Amino acid sequence: AAYKVIFSGIQPTGIPHLGNYVGALREWKRLQDRAGPGTKLLFCIVDMHALTSPRPAEELKKGRLEMLASLLAIGIDPKKSTIFFQSSVPAHTELQWILSCTASTGYLSRMTQWKVINHGAADILLYQTTHVPVGDDQRQHVEFTRECATNFNHAYKMRCLIPPNTMSTISRRIMSLTDPLKKMSKSDLSGKTRISIIDTPDQITRKINRVRTDNFPTIQYDPINRPGAANLIRIMAAFDPKGRTVDQLGEEMTGKKYSELKDVVTPLVIDGLAGLSERYEHFISDPEKLLDIARAGGVVARAMADETMRQVRELVGT
Ligand code: ADP
Ligand code: NA
Repeated sequence: AAYKVIFSGIQPTGIPHLGNYVGALREWKRLQDRAGPGTKLLFCIVDMHALTSPRPAEELKKGRLEMLASLLAIGIDPKKSTIFFQSSVPAHTELQWILSCTASTGYLSRMTQWKVINHGAADILLYQTTHVPVGDDQRQHVEFTRECATNFNHAYKMRCLIPPNTMSTISRRIMSLTDPLKKMSKSDLSGKTRISIIDTPDQITRKINRVRTDNFPTIQYDPINRPGAANLIRIMAAFDPKGRTVDQLGEEMTGKKYSELKDVVTPLVIDGLAGLSERYEHFISDPEKLLDIARAGGVVARAMADETMRQVRELVGT
């Protein structure tokens, strides 16, 4: 098909961090900027998934607005992309139920292990998604989704749901600042483990200075034995103006001190995130406008979902 539907989602569980930015959100913006007329982009703030760890309602409401303001600050443009809250499309749960009925038992047991994936498949299939940009850590979600679509199509003998393709984004997993064996995550209780996309230059400098390093006096790119240095080098590569690879930069930094590496990484991150906090403040200061944007996105998403569900219901007889 000449057309493309690109779908991706993010949980409204806090302000995005450096990992979300280089592993996903910055890529969303690039996809948007490169999209031709036959491409539709949908970016879903998955508030229903966030319910898997219950929190006070006010916190989720706040988290959704914070995520929306973050996406806008990064440059996701509601005129070019559909940005919406998952909960504005009730068909997510309907399709999820229907998919669970045609899932194989092996699939079902894996689904209970990872309950979130099960929702993820319906999210993606609901929009006839052809491409899913995902980071390294979420590759298997797309595999599950393909399996869901194939099982359903097989059960009803019709190519109704489209098995989506993984769109490989540059796989850069950024690790926690305090424990380089754990991935940097929004849901980590301590903010010291991550650099937020709206941290000030001072905060960024302090956090990088405090990064836990390895027990070696000098740098070598060795992810297994020196994960602290490897993480800093990955961050450096993510923001390298010359676009050099992790291996090239690792070689270049070999033999240098950790403090020298940090001195190189710090301004790259500050420059890389420049302007984001100002734009974020601009958007978050107008919650009514944010809600309008989300509502408008919801209307578009619902129309696309209805089209898919019309075919699905026809096929299953509901
Ligand atoms: P988090 O784990 O921080 O709560 P999400 O699960 O909402 O983030 O994932 C949002 C997107 O960010 C996904 O595409 C995921 O691949 C990407 N992502 C999350 N953490 C990292 C990380 N530490 N490094 C690179 N990409 C990441
Ligand atoms: Na997560």
